[in-house]
Amino acid sequence: MTQVAIIHHSGFGHTAVLAADVARGVEAAGATPVLLAIELGQTNFDEFFAVAAESDALVFGTPTYMGTVSAPMKAFMDASAAVYFTKQWKDKLAAAFTVSGSPSGDKLNTLTTLAIFAAQHAMLWIGTGQNPGNNDDTSAATDVENRLGSFLGAMAQAANDSAEVTPKAGDRATAHSLGRRVAAAAARWQAGARESVAAA
Ligand SMILES: Cc1cc2nc3c(=O)[nH]c(=O)nc-3n(C[C@H](O)[C@H](O)[C@H](O)COP(=O)(O)O)c2cc1C
Repeated sequence: MTQVAIIHHSGFGHTAVLAADVARGVEAAGATPVLLAIELGQTNFDEFFAVAAESDALVFGTPTYMGTVSAPMKAFMDASAAVYFTKQWKDKLAAAFTVSGSPSGDKLNTLTTLAIFAAQHAMLWIGTGQNPGNNDDTSAATDVENRLGSFLGAMAQAANDSAEVTPKAGDRATAHSLGRRVAAAAARWQAGARESVAAA
């Protein structure tokens, strides 16, 4: 069974909503999601690394704070240096999602940071695989998938309101789609690896 770990931090609940949507997308592809929430001030990530070792793909989720990943997500990233030296995550799939208050909010820098992080771990990056959803200057619809037009990872905007009402349906569907895509890709990748071992 394909397993996808969703490693995320959420200060005020918006990223957590998206993480749950990613998990539902993973399930929709017939795989098992494991949600791992980073707490403020957390320094021990042993359980995270144990789950990651058993997972086929890791999806990283963080709010964009001051134009980049949040401090708790960065604490996790820095702690993963121990895993980096063993190349334990080599050839696992990786993807990311982020949310911020502004439509841009410099979210691309957050996703780029996580893509470089995954590359340092020799992981294989999976983007949204979606066309931009809102390329029409008469449209400001919030119910359109990939409305913020991101390829590197799923982007969401949370207006200045509670996580019960924002991010909106389109951004949540984008997160769902990313989870589904990562899980399907991980299953294909596993099947291909089995075939190449059998052929060797
Ligand atoms: C410390 C801090 C820094 C922030 N920096 C940005 C930013 O750079 N760009 C932006 O658009 N929104 C920024 N925001 C807004 C958050 O990204 C937004 O509220 C997001 O939904 C928070 O997600 P969370 O509820 O998962 O913590 C910031 C919020 C905080 C608390």
